[in-house]
Amino acid sequence: MIKQGINIYKGISEIATELCNFLAAESDRKNYSVALPGGNTPKAIFELMAQNCKYQVHWDNLQFFWGDERCVGPDHPESNYKMANESLLHPLEIDTSVIHRIKGENDPVFESERYTLELLKHVQNRNGLTSFNLVILGMGDDGHTASIFPGQHNIIESTKLCDHSVHPTSGQNRITLTLETINNSENVFFLVTGKKKASLIAEIIKDKSSRDKYPAAMVRPNDGNLCWLLDTEAAEELKDKVE
Ligand code: 6PG
Repeated sequence: MIKQGINIYKGISEIATELCNFLAAESDRKNYSVALPGGNTPKAIFELMAQNCKYQVHWDNLQFFWGDERCVGPDHPESNYKMANESLLHPLEIDTSVIHRIKGENDPVFESERYTLELLKHVQNRNGLTSFNLVILGMGDDGHTASIFPGQHNIIESTKLCDHSVHPTSGQNRITLTLETINNSENVFFLVTGKKKASLIAEIIKDKSSRDKYPAAMVRPNDGNLCWLLDTEAAEELKDKVE
């Protein structure tokens, strides 16, 4: 059972099982909105979910969105849509009518406006704001999440539902959900694995001042659940924090 706060697992197969169990319980609800992340961690987890829980979850009740997208076409190797489609959605034969990809091939400003309308149309409203049932996030080594990068205050403070950001080193255009939207979600799950992120995870969990530095630490749902799904390597500096 995934609980609020820190959840530590042996590895990605346990994380995949827990995600399936969670979605199996939640997917009795129609139009359950899920925002998917990009990156390598989720890819391996999605593949395991597609293999092991095709019949456990009411997949046809889910609506799929993305937390962020690189401004590339849907067939580009860096596309988050391509990654999720190949590892999860296509193997599960998810109908295209419930797949709401961010069109990275469009002009970024136009697409962030178009995607905003898509969110308003398909995602439920809570407290007067768009509210996902579940946002799944990764965390970069620099503490970014989705495509919200440290120091990019225009994005960090954006009051839009989604916005156009730029990768700080590659200069790649991105479209990202804003913290405003992420923090209005019912459930926010971070999927973080590997030793490389252990010290940053410990800093974010233990040190409140990290909230001024790292976008991942700024994810603090207003009245939703924040759950960290970590493997033992990513959690190795948290021993004193976990009962
Ligand atoms: C992206 C992601 C990004 C990712 C983290 C973690 O588009 O790159 O949305 O936020 O989740 O960088 O990626 P890894 O799991 O590959 O470390």
